[in-house]
Amino acid sequence: MIVAVIGAGTIGLSWARLFASYGMTVRVSDPRPDLAEAVADIPGDVQIAASVADAVRGADVVQENGPESLEFKKDLFTTLVRLAPAHALLLSSSSAIPSSAFTEDIEDASRILIGHPFNPPHVLPLVEVVPGRRTSEESVQAAVAFYRSVGRTPVVERKEIPGFVGNRLQSALSREAIFLVEQGVVTPEDLDAVVMNSLGIRWAATGPFLASHLGGGPGGYRHLMEHIGASMREIDLGEPSTDPEPLIEAVERAYGAATYEELTETRDRRQQAVMSALEQN
Ligand SMILES: NC(=O)c1ccc[n+]([C@@H]2O[C@H](COP(=O)([O-])OP(=O)(O)OC[C@H]3O[C@@H](n4cnc5c(N)ncnc54)[C@H](O)[C@@H]3O)[C@@H](O)[C@H]2O)c1
Repeated sequence: MIVAVIGAGTIGLSWARLFASYGMTVRVSDPRPDLAEAVADIPGDVQIAASVADAVRGADVVQENGPESLEFKKDLFTTLVRLAPAHALLLSSSSAIPSSAFTEDIEDASRILIGHPFNPPHVLPLVEVVPGRRTSEESVQAAVAFYRSVGRTPVVERKEIPGFVGNRLQSALSREAIFLVEQGVVTPEDLDAVVMNSLGIRWAATGPFLASHLGGGPGGYRHLMEHIGASMREIDLGEPSTDPEPLIEAVERAYGAATYEELTETRDRRQQAVMSALEQN
């Protein structure tokens, strides 16, 4: 299996690591001058492609991870349809832009769809598989099979919406987190501690709906909604301010002393530990 990884930033490098760890041949294309250095520590068959055309030659799957820009994705997918083998699946890691928005001028969009991971995709299992209006069902099933073959958990979402599901949930929580810090209720690191010691652990095991159903005791979700639910609905959620600078400075004060490598190594190890614990229970 040959996989072309187009765009080797945070997400592309992580996909490359995952695909290579499953014995796939990975061809990486990115104009960044330090590309060779960036892929040097990835074990397996990872090749540097001289161009997008070189990367997709003979590819079975293309995973696109370029900038989150409508124009970029329009141009790139027009090129991919022309250059990639006719059987190749054309998948985009897009975080928010649905594929119908960047394929409207492409004659045959049947094999183009979103395969949106959560960072880092070589550790976190979810991939949101989102077909566009003209994606074929065969491509949806092929994408699901491909992501399962590399140990991921694909979830198919049948209606396009900006941000898909995961990032919409994340945005709702982030919005309130920013408001609480801006109001001086908590510091960024204390807000992180609240989530890491409660909701994060809870949601790794159950998800919000099952958690609520269990929160209602033997009476289940109905009991929760009829009793605590009413007071929860009365909480007035706040509006974050429009100046992000003080918040950025507060986050940098909290975490800026450690390097990216130190923080990601700890993150990956802790996430693996939660997942290992869940697999054993
Ligand atoms: N960072 C995240 O948490 C995250 C999570 C899921 C999905 N995504 C999505 O994945 C995609 C990539 O995000 P990222 O965070 O890795 O961005 P990034 O900025 O780290 O990487 C983008 C890469 O694209 C490269 N690039 C620019 N022009 C190119 C071209 N013509 N051909 C090939 N590569 C080119 C850049 O050099 C850069 O290395 C975006 O669509 C983003 O929304 C990001």
